[in-house]
Amino acid sequence: MTVVILRRVADLRTMVRGWKAAGQTVGVVPTMGALHEGHLSLARAAKAGCDRVIVTIFVNPKQFNNPADLEKYPRTEDRDAALLATVGVDVIFAPLPDEVYPPGFATGVSVSGVSAPLEGAHRPGHFDGVATVVAKLFGMTMADRAYFGEKDWQQLQVVQRLVADLNLPVQIVGCGTVREADGLAMSSRNARLSESGRKIAPGLHREMQRAAEAMRAGVPVAAALEEAAAAVQAAGFEAVDYLDLRSADLLEPMTALNGPARLLAAATLDGVRLIDNIAV
Ligand code: PAF
Repeated sequence: MTVVILRRVADLRTMVRGWKAAGQTVGVVPTMGALHEGHLSLARAAKAGCDRVIVTIFVNPKQFNNPADLEKYPRTEDRDAALLATVGVDVIFAPLPDEVYPPGFATGVSVSGVSAPLEGAHRPGHFDGVATVVAKLFGMTMADRAYFGEKDWQQLQVVQRLVADLNLPVQIVGCGTVREADGLAMSSRNARLSESGRKIAPGLHREMQRAAEAMRAGVPVAAALEEAAAAVQAAGFEAVDYLDLRSADLLEPMTALNGPARLLAAATLDGVRLIDNIAV
């Protein structure tokens, strides 16, 4: 079984209108390709929750603040399509950049507040690019539900805010992070780690878990965070961009465990920037 790949919005809309006319619900899983088990778990959740499933594959230039990162981003469409066929998705929407951003494109979507700290502070313009393309993908696919991984926790909060603020008629479904057996969060970037880096990489999640346990046991938040960041570096990471406790929804700084909290981190290994987050 192969999956139909559409490149034009008009063709996608014709297909989706047919489904809707038949009373079917439509789910979308937005991706940038280079699919792994984390993406497939989103596609399976969409299959379980909707009559029809679209997976979008589009490496969105607007969300890369670093041109080298955009250049290096893996593009593996044939392999992605074969994987999606095993899940039974109905269509892959893989538009060319001009279809998404035609000449004269002049609109940007910016979600303030929750976009500002953490990834927003380290990757200027990143979430404007994400919000813009996600708003467009919702408009293009006309999906009833959209599935996002909790691995990108801040992105999930940004998308929730976007949908609420703009009254977009799509329900956002957050799905748990899928991890390798050693705890490393699955990410398309993991493939860029060296053999030795791959062994070091689970240290990020391990130290985050230790910090979370310490905080739950009453260790002051600042001390637990400082110790965890030092341990991540000692494990072999080159730099820790942040390792921070934040309120789970608004991502405001938390100095004590006095409400729903999320521990979020970004650190570089082998020149690859890895992010992770866990509930505390
Ligand atoms: O999470 C991603 O892969 C991207 O940020 C998304 C949501 C597909 C938008 O380009």
